[in-house]
Amino acid sequence: MTSQESLSREKFRYEQIASDIATLIEKGTYQPGMQILSVRKMSQQQNVSISSVLQAYQLLENQGLIEARPQSGYYVRTASGEDFPEPEISSPSLDPSHVNLHDLMMMAMRDSLNPKLTQLGAAMPNLELLPTERINRIMAGLARTASKDIHGYELPPGLEELRVQIAKRAILSGCQLSPGDIVITSGGVEGIHLCLHAVCKPGDIVAIESPMYFGTLQILEVHGLRALEIPTNPRDGISLGALQFAIEHNPIKAVLTISNFNNPLGSFIPDEKKKDLVKLLARYDIPLIDNDVSGEIYFTEKRPMVTKAFDKKGLVMLCSSFSKDISPSLRVGWVAPGRYKNTVEWLKFTTSVATGTLPQMAIAQFLESGGYDHQLRRIRREYASNVALLSQAVTRTFPAGTRVTRPSGGFVLWVQLPENVDSLEIYKLALENNITITPGYLFSPTNQFSNFIRLNAAAWTFPIERSLVRLGDLVKESAEHGKSLY
Ligand SMILES: Cc1ncc(COP(=O)(O)O)c(C=O)c1O
Repeated sequence: MTSQESLSREKFRYEQIASDIATLIEKGTYQPGMQILSVRKMSQQQNVSISSVLQAYQLLENQGLIEARPQSGYYVRTASGEDFPEPEISSPSLDPSHVNLHDLMMMAMRDSLNPKLTQLGAAMPNLELLPTERINRIMAGLARTASKDIHGYELPPGLEELRVQIAKRAILSGCQLSPGDIVITSGGVEGIHLCLHAVCKPGDIVAIESPMYFGTLQILEVHGLRALEIPTNPRDGISLGALQFAIEHNPIKAVLTISNFNNPLGSFIPDEKKKDLVKLLARYDIPLIDNDVSGEIYFTEKRPMVTKAFDKKGLVMLCSSFSKDISPSLRVGWVAPGRYKNTVEWLKFTTSVATGTLPQMAIAQFLESGGYDHQLRRIRREYASNVALLSQAVTRTFPAGTRVTRPSGGFVLWVQLPENVDSLEIYKLALENNITITPGYLFSPTNQFSNFIRLNAAAWTFPIERSLVRLGDLVKESAEHGKSLY
């Protein structure tokens, strides 16, 4: 056997299928725009599982060779010119700054709740893809059969059954947690609140990825903390060199990251780099608050690890929630706060006593029943496909000079518009067209991203596609006229 043959034998089956299709596309057997075999037919023809074919098609999508069209199938991608490049690594100021974004955030939040507008910006999960019926049935069953005890006070750290389920799953992200390591919170945002409160006092400096999810910036604002933005690469996240420099020149009290699929950047810190990050902070005894709300929504082969997996000193405070994959309205999240557990537990008690019992029971039952894994497989597939579709649509409709991220998880795209386009002007113009986007201003306390917008790729429907085309026209017009439009 030649070494070439042995190499190809080692390949995973799905990689072989993807490579065969790629060859057919290259040779012109499959023309641009042509539909390729449906997943089911391909699985019968190749005598492989549906999931292998789906993996193969996802790989081809990630390579930009094919695209999924809703309710239609997979097609060879029509050449639409060069894809836009990714945004470059951010280069924020070296000085910490107070945060003052609440007016802008409340405006964006109000618009994101208006059902008359097409929502292209808010990072809402696709409600069609949540396990609503299942959760409703579980809640109805619980409400019918539960004893009066569920109406008594629940106390921190929260429902034991749920903490057991969370601890069991932690192993998949490389982390050994026991139920006693976990505090249940009211959503991920409360977890971050509690962690920051536990380790910082007003005026302290917190190092953050740049850009950073504005919900987190709001928490810094509320606590009177100063943000020190650290350059962050759209691919592999926070710059460790820049972080070390910042630590050596500032009394940093905590570091905040979204190491798996940053919102809005989509960046993902590779597992080895996570280890280096944890090691670096351990050297200076600085706590790391890592927000993993999107960690389960990966398009790669396996679950990325969490920074907590490398934590030997109890300095990593891992926060997550079930808002992106089960239900944002149940408000169930959790924290594994390491050495700060007692403080976080006490703060949880003083803030809201505890999270509602019924939502905790419902999520615990859903996790225990095995429904969660099925749900996750479904949304990973759909979001990977919708991210590719949205990204291709941006390439087709936005003007030259645009840049766009290529996330390998989550469901948001971060779009850098041409230099002379202002995202707040685009926000206003879009609103006049009944469209909302999220302007880049919201993701930095020092206006680093005035010509960026965040787009939500959770759903891909005809009205969304039409609105995106309109948005592309508005950006083009704005790029042609510069900021003189207003
Ligand atoms: C990065 C990030 N963290 C936290 C949240 C909020 O999580 P929760 O609704 O569980 O409070 C969001 C929601 O958009 C988010 O994108």
